[in-house]
Parts: sequence; C-alpha cells; structure tokens
Amino acid sequence: MLAGPEEIFRAVARLQQGGVVAFPTETVYGLGADALSETAVRRVFQLKGRPPENPLIVHVSSVEMARSVVLQWPDSASMAAAAFWPGPLTLVLPKASNIPDLVTAGGATVGVRCPDHPTTLALLEALGRPLVGPSANPSGRVSPTRAEHVSAAFSDEDVLVLDGGPCRAGIESTVLSLAGEARVLRPGVIGAEELSRVLGCRVGTGAGLGSGPVQSPGLLGAHYAPIAPIRLAAGPQVPDIMRGATGRVVLISAWALEPPPPHILLRLSPDAEGYAAGLYAALREADSLEPGLILVERPRIEGADEKSRAVWEAVMDRLNRAATGTP
Ligand code: TXA
Ligand code: MG
Repeated sequence: MLAGPEEIFRAVARLQQGGVVAFPTETVYGLGADALSETAVRRVFQLKGRPPENPLIVHVSSVEMARSVVLQWPDSASMAAAAFWPGPLTLVLPKASNIPDLVTAGGATVGVRCPDHPTTLALLEALGRPLVGPSANPSGRVSPTRAEHVSAAFSDEDVLVLDGGPCRAGIESTVLSLAGEARVLRPGVIGAEELSRVLGCRVGTGAGLGSGPVQSPGLLGAHYAPIAPIRLAAGPQVPDIMRGATGRVVLISAWALEPPPPHILLRLSPDAEGYAAGLYAALREADSLEPGLILVERPRIEGADEKSRAVWEAVMDRLNRAATGTP
C-alpha cells in the first residue's frame, strides 16, 4: 500500500528518534536518516555495511534547505537547481559546518539533491531537516527500485519503509561537481551536454579513475552487482555464449529472440528510459533464479538522440560496474 499522511507522520517520529526510514525517489529508494545527527548517520553506514570513506548524498526539499548545508551557493547551482530540481541531479558543493564529517567521509564537499517524489518531499517538509540517503541496498549490491526490494534486505525494526511505488527513472542521479570546474562524477539520466547548455559552460565527464584522484569513491570497483556471475555481450555473440554455458543462462535483453530451455529471457524495453527503469528489477529477478550466468545483451544505441544517449551512457556505466570482477 502506498504511504499516506499517517505513514509519513510515523516516519517523521522515527527520524526524530534517530531512526532510519527508507524513502522513495524518482531514481531509486534511499536509506534516510537525519543528516544533521551523527548518531543517526552512523546507523545508516552500519545497516548498509557502507565503507566510511564513501560519502552520502544529502536530500533536501528546497533550494533554501540546500543552501543551509553548503558553504557557497554559486550561480551555477541556482541555474542547475532551477532547471532540474526536483529531479535526478546531485550537486557537489563545499559543505557547511552543520553537516557531520561522517556524512562527507571527512571531505570538504557535500552532495545535495532535491528528489522528485511527492511522498519524500512531504517527508522532508514535515521533518524540516535534510536527510542523508544512500541507495537503500546493502553496500555493493543492486539498488532498489521498489519498496519490496528494500523490505527484503532490512528488518522492519531497523528500517521503516515508505512505499512510493516503483521508481520512474530506475537508475541513480547524475552527480555533478560544482566545487571547482563543473564535472559529472557519476552519469545519470541528465547528461553532460544538457548540463553544459543549461550552465553555459563546459561540463567535464569521467570520475577520474586512473586519471588523478578519485573524486567519487562510490564509483570504484565492483558495484551494483548481483550475486550470480554476469557478463555483457554484443547481440551476435549471444547464441554462442549460451550454447557454451554450463547451467542455465538468464538473458537480459530488449532485442533477443526467446532462447531455448532451460535458458530464460527477461525482456527490457528497447527505449533508453524504459530500459533504465526496468534494469535493476531485471538484475534482481535474474539473480533470484540462481542461474549459472546472467548474460546482458549490450544495448543497441546507434542513432539515439541526445537525451537517450545520456541515459544509455548511464546504463552502460551501471552494466560495466555490475560485470566488474566477472571474467
Ligand atoms: O539517485 C540517487 O542519487 C540515490 C537516491 C536515493 O537519491 N542515492 C544514491 O546514493 O545513489 P549513493 O550513496 O548510493 O550514491 C552516492 C554517490 C556515491 O558514488 C558517492 O561516492 C557520491 O555519490 N558522492 C556523495 N557525496 C559526494 C561528494 N561530496 N563528492 C563526490 N562524490 C560524492
Ligand atoms: Mg548506491
């Protein structure tokens, strides 16, 4: 059942006591706690098994609240917020002293985002304080796009889950650093080209892996990973890989033909937005079938327009990370 005013009231009480509440957003569900309370934030790190060097995003319901957690709010932040908030864009800015160091992993910047979901905006308004909100999954696993995904991973006593229905976008927000030169640290459905147009300046890309200091620690290594081995392959390679596989293959694709038994096809939508919205649920379903291999057909993205290209790039980023560690 979708959360109504009574659930929001209970969630506020839980948060005021230093507890943890999972909240819906347009991207993925977040694991929320009072961002100004070090004790509450510590609980989120514990529950997720999150390494302390990976900073958390702070969620706000307004530009005013965002300004209260940062040291400076440059014009570029005003422009980005006016164009994309509420929405799937996190702005990294110098942090104010009210944000505990634990939130930013000891760093001098904080990621801030105003999520586009009525339940969570109402929650933030009722609480009147910002909330940390990493994706509501155990660290390193696939992000949750439905309330059931969160309930399956955490007990009711530990986490009160607000059900806001399935997440519309389905992959995590674009993380844009505005501390220094504008740069996308994590691709999302809002692409660098669009950001560059709105900000009227060049927006760099790439998290700096292998090219200088790592700026977004959560982008390191295996991430978003199912338990079963996962492999990416271009369409023409798919039949051969299936023939050579031991055990059942779960194929995730928007384009493939139905494979012969015992293999299974989980079909995604061929348009970028639909694919992104369904991807994490498909990875979870594939995992639950305990296959020998999860085979993902590499998205066919030739001819996509700018908007779709941005989404496909974000999808490819997540797929590559999911497949990290699997030969
Ligand atoms: O869509 C989203 O952003 C979701 C929903 C719940 O809002 N949240 C989310 O949080 O994906 P999380 O913790 O799973 O991912 C946050 C990412 C990590 O890669 C982290 O390293 C990066 O943002 N990040 C957070 N604060 C940062 C900062 N100050 N500087 C650089 N990167 C930061
Ligand atoms: Mg995450």
